[in-house]
Amino acid sequence: MSEIKDYLQLYDAAVEEEKFPLVYGWMKTEPLPFFKQLREQRPVLVTPEATIVTLFEDVRDTLMLPKIFTVSLYKPKMADYLMAHDDDALHDREKAIMHAMLTRDDLPLVRKLVAKNAAKILDDANGSIEIVEDYCRGVPATIVQDYFGLDGVDAKSLKDWSFWTQYDTFHNQPFSLNSKEKFDYIVKEHARASDELGKYITHLMIRKSISVKLGEAKNKLFFAWNLLVKGFYWITGRKVEKLTDNIVTRMLRASYPDQLDFGLQRVGTNAGGLLVGAIETTSQAVAQSIEMILQDSDLLNKAKEAAQLEDTSDFDNIVWETLRYVPISPFVFRQAGEKYTIAKGRDHETTIDSGTYVLIATQSAMFDKYAYDDPDEFNPDRTFYHNFIFGYGSHECMGKYVGMEMMPEMVRQVVLRTNIKANGDIDYDGKPFPTFFNLSWD
Ligand code: HEM
Repeated sequence: MSEIKDYLQLYDAAVEEEKFPLVYGWMKTEPLPFFKQLREQRPVLVTPEATIVTLFEDVRDTLMLPKIFTVSLYKPKMADYLMAHDDDALHDREKAIMHAMLTRDDLPLVRKLVAKNAAKILDDANGSIEIVEDYCRGVPATIVQDYFGLDGVDAKSLKDWSFWTQYDTFHNQPFSLNSKEKFDYIVKEHARASDELGKYITHLMIRKSISVKLGEAKNKLFFAWNLLVKGFYWITGRKVEKLTDNIVTRMLRASYPDQLDFGLQRVGTNAGGLLVGAIETTSQAVAQSIEMILQDSDLLNKAKEAAQLEDTSDFDNIVWETLRYVPISPFVFRQAGEKYTIAKGRDHETTIDSGTYVLIATQSAMFDKYAYDDPDEFNPDRTFYHNFIFGYGSHECMGKYVGMEMMPEMVRQVVLRTNIKANGDIDYDGKPFPTFFNLSWD
């Protein structure tokens, strides 16, 4: 019988500069036994670099206090996007507008679109695929183009812009343990990607605004339409696009009172946010979920059975349960905006200073007995309300419901292939995201 590793003993024995790297490594490579020991013996671990919070109730509490556990670390990475705002007017206003644009009434259509685009990529692959680039990133890129409306650009650029923004924002922080050279390189690539994305968004706003205006004019002035179209073509050399419904078009068709401060620039910033949020996150989650299912023949058989059913909820629940084990990150991070006592009045009460980096271990919370009975068992029959793979509280994922259709449907289309198998594990190629993963089927 293998001995249970005593992480805290190793941690306590380590010299100061080795303590946080040890913790960071365990969170990445063996999070479940490490978090279990922390929950049982030191639920709030204060390390020289950052404080780790592991119990469900403390994780939920910290994520509900946005002015105390702030997203200051996002600010240098994402200009003035809503995600870098804590509990203020801009955050709530813009998130509310975007929630309305991404109405959940669309979800059945989103699911169908994902199923169609995913099946086509797999059909075209003819029985074998490197799935990360072409599929895990490729399918969300089609949704960004077709549903969000960021069209007129190649998928390769969309993937690149999402990749570098996500890399710099979530994996290039003071506690990410990157060398100075690596840190600078990621910042530089992110700056390049932001510059390209910014230029593209400017063109997109102009192009789509004109289409919207001409489309509306068409409805009002039917007889003058041909003249307008010809004039537009004569002046710009471009054909007027057909006015189709997508999120960017919706944002541009709506009219906002001045008090909402949602002019063209804010529309553009939020359009860019849709892209950045959608691709690399989905890619990582889908690749990791597929890997976990394919590694376990019993689980694969159960997934295959559920994948045949018309009602997809059993299948979706299997995917949510895999993501409890292999989420895109074991934690979300915050910086304390003021001195605060976590778990006040309990044995593990811990006071942290303003400025402290806090790693809120959402994965640990999902394995806490408070969240779920028998948390160490794989059991798809669990409430989603205690699942934190999309974050929680004020900064809960805005794309959650799109993601909740996109990810399981993408996994389902793979599982439905006859004799599907993985040829090796995911290769991360030294990066925080999956890079290569080869699959084949009959
Ligand atoms: C489908 C397209 C997606 C879009 C447009 C999107 C967008 C966003 C936005 C705007 C936020 C910040 C919300 C706020 O600050 O109030 C957010 C947060 C988050 N998203 Fe998404 N997202 C998407 C997909 C995903 C996926 C697939 C995952 C994971 C599997 C994910 C995980 C998260 C997490 C964990 C947070 C919380 C971050 C934090 O609290 O610091 N997102 N998302």
